[in-house]
Amino acid sequence: MTERGVFVTGTGTEVGKTVVAALIARTLAGAGTRVAVFKPAVTGLDDPGEPDHELLRRAAGSEQGDEEIAPYRYGPPASPHLAASLAGEEIDPARLRAAAASAAEGADQLVCEGVGGLLVPLAAGYTVRDLAADLALPLVVAASPELGTINHTLLTLEAARSAGLEVAMVVLTPWPDVPSTVEASNLETIAALGAVRVETVPRLDLSDPKRWPPLSSA
Ligand SMILES: Nc1ncnc2c1ncn2[C@@H]1O[C@H](COP(=O)(O)OP(=O)(O)OP(=O)(O)O)[C@@H](O)[C@H]1O
Ligand SMILES: [Mg+2]
Repeated sequence: MTERGVFVTGTGTEVGKTVVAALIARTLAGAGTRVAVFKPAVTGLDDPGEPDHELLRRAAGSEQGDEEIAPYRYGPPASPHLAASLAGEEIDPARLRAAAASAAEGADQLVCEGVGGLLVPLAAGYTVRDLAADLALPLVVAASPELGTINHTLLTLEAARSAGLEVAMVVLTPWPDVPSTVEASNLETIAALGAVRVETVPRLDLSDPKRWPPLSSA
């Protein structure tokens, strides 16, 4: 793990980015590291369930406020550029960069979760990938272990590397106790074809970060 933090992206939406980012934050915090968390925009606050910034804060043991973790927060479950537009505003890349820098102040490591996948627009002409590049943090790619993941994961690695981003690892989540032939092969294939380190995360009880097994590579 870098000295400054990581940027957790994924192959798409609902693939386990928050779980992976929260586990990295918890692993670091459990080792005595001061961890700050950051998510450029949270959408879907109208939906039931714990919002991403709240799970990230709990896992990190952070005392950051909502605004410090996620400067843009919207009710509709929509891409951030659309959710912002529905609220009559635009996401400002400069404000995101400043907010991430401010979140990192006073912390040893910044664990940042992206939104959707790398090519999701945050604002006109500014994608999640652009933000990852601006923050200059190595990427962690959350992905499903299931059928379809080879293509999605290799596409994500290609999109990352074509922009010069460093990929620290792929994390398959939730990894079953007894992987199927397909799942076991997916891990090997992604590692070989993607020339990348692949880690796994078992199904976690999200209510209790203190009981999570550490991510060994974090
Ligand atoms: N290791 C795991 N243990 C428990 N639940 C998991 C695990 N991995 C993924 N999940 C479940 O998969 C779903 C998606 O995970 P998560 O919310 O982390 O995805 P995401 O990529 O952050 O989604 P979004 O794009 O909305 O931010 C959640 O219901 C989460 O609880
Ligand atoms: Mg999430």
